[in-house]
Amino acid sequence: MEILIDTVNLDEIKKYNQMLNLSGVTSNPTIIKKEGKVDFFEHLRQVREIIGPEKTLHVQAVGATAQEIIADAHRVLKEIDQQVYIKIPTNEQGLEAMKTLKSEGVHITATAIYTVFQGELAIAAGADYLAPYYNRMLNMNIDAPQVIAELAHAISLSASQTKILAASFHNVAQVTAAIKNGAQAVTIGTDVVAAGLNAPMIAAAVTDFKKDWVSLYGDQTIAD
Ligand code: E4P
Repeated sequence: MEILIDTVNLDEIKKYNQMLNLSGVTSNPTIIKKEGKVDFFEHLRQVREIIGPEKTLHVQAVGATAQEIIADAHRVLKEIDQQVYIKIPTNEQGLEAMKTLKSEGVHITATAIYTVFQGELAIAAGADYLAPYYNRMLNMNIDAPQVIAELAHAISLSASQTKILAASFHNVAQVTAAIKNGAQAVTIGTDVVAAGLNAPMIAAAVTDFKKDWVSLYGDQTIAD
């Protein structure tokens, strides 16, 4: 299973890269905007510096036409590095761009996926990852777990190497449901990770164990 974080905040990336067995970092213009008007390429180079060359970095193209998306991709690869995964919306223009970029050997993450149909076309286009938008699907009354399960099935029938990188999570239950339904990778906002690890019940258990230890051994630690 691959765990990615959905942020370009450098401190958060350092923190979670140290804490988790992170597989990579995802971004989009909304995520970049949270950092203010940073120098786009310089900031993403710093992200790469923190995570290293072996983890995946996913950067979104913003062009409206296939040619503009391809030009965005070429610039990103030139300014950051050739290993970046270019996130491309799975629409008419995006699919046309994916076809060209794939023939050039570019890594592709097909994004803004709400339907199995979009995913099937992205698999056929050779996308390395599909990014179905879990919470946004729920907001549209789309059965997100079912879409992910059907995408996993479509991949298994296609003999392609495409993986599901589920995104757009607003709570930990959504993350675990995506994994249960076949997502090989998930990108999680750091607020959701923090909520999942800082629940009061976890802290209460730790406090209770510590209290019992102290009642037996006082200040002495196991390591003493
Ligand atoms: C991945 O980077 C997606 O763009 C992102 O998870 C979307 O999340 P949102 O629906 O919370 O904006």
